[in-house]
Amino acid sequence: MRIGIFGTGMVGQALAGRLAGLGHDVMIGTRDVAAALARTKPDNYGNPGFGPWHARHPNVKVGTLAETSTHGEILVNATAGSASLDVLRQAGADALPGRVLIDVANPLDFSKGMPPSLLVCNTDSLAEQIQRAFPALKVVKALNTTNASVMTNPTAVGDGEHTLFICGNDPEAKAKVTEIVRAFGWRDVVDAGDITAARGTEMLLPLWIRLYGALQTPLFNFKVVR
Ligand SMILES: NC(=O)c1ccc[n+]([C@@H]2O[C@H](COP(=O)([O-])OP(=O)(O)OC[C@H]3O[C@@H](n4cnc5c(N)ncnc54)[C@H](OP(=O)(O)O)[C@@H]3O)[C@@H](O)[C@H]2O)c1
Repeated sequence: MRIGIFGTGMVGQALAGRLAGLGHDVMIGTRDVAAALARTKPDNYGNPGFGPWHARHPNVKVGTLAETSTHGEILVNATAGSASLDVLRQAGADALPGRVLIDVANPLDFSKGMPPSLLVCNTDSLAEQIQRAFPALKVVKALNTTNASVMTNPTAVGDGEHTLFICGNDPEAKAKVTEIVRAFGWRDVVDAGDITAARGTEMLLPLWIRLYGALQTPLFNFKVVR
């Protein structure tokens, strides 16, 4: 499948590498291709800059936001939540009707320092803002409640028997995304309902961030025990 991923950070890299490894034709999109490829410094978590990462993943195409939008039969939003609506507008993400957009972003506000708060919550969510702004897309919120290395490989934590939440308005889109995350190894995929359920999964982030501090590792996840 042709997949277009917006965002060259650790999430974009993790998803692009994993999806390409599964045989998909992946393009990762950035505002400035040359600037992204010239990034050699590791990030705060020790992940390589985009340039060295891409040298190790030459099968992943790199394109402008517009090229990535055109490339993808399925799109992925892996951009900073504060910039997602702008990036998707620049990309023309709704140019073709009926495409699935997997929204992995969290609306984190770092403007007042750490820990971040949420830019939108309670009665709205980033996923709903995206769905309203781009009605031609079928937005499925998924993968936003786990660290990048866990989202693409659940066995990075324990026995891999923990929970991934998805939500969205379109049952077929959710089925498609479920198929993709099952290929990553997810077994407990909970359909939390329509896109308004993203209020809940995005509001897990303040807890996720506190747990990261308490546990001193991003390698953990939530598990729903019935
Ligand atoms: N890190 C995790 O483990 C994790 C886990 C779950 C969910 N998430 C969420 O997934 C998303 C991606 O996270 P990340 O850690 O990979 O990366 P990030 O540092 O939040 O940024 C990812 C991309 O967003 C774009 N971006 C950032 N600021 C921008 C701005 N002002 N205008 C336009 N584009 C901008 C950049 O694209 P360019 O290439 O154009 O510079 C960048 O590559 C975030 O929303 C995050 O909250 C992260």
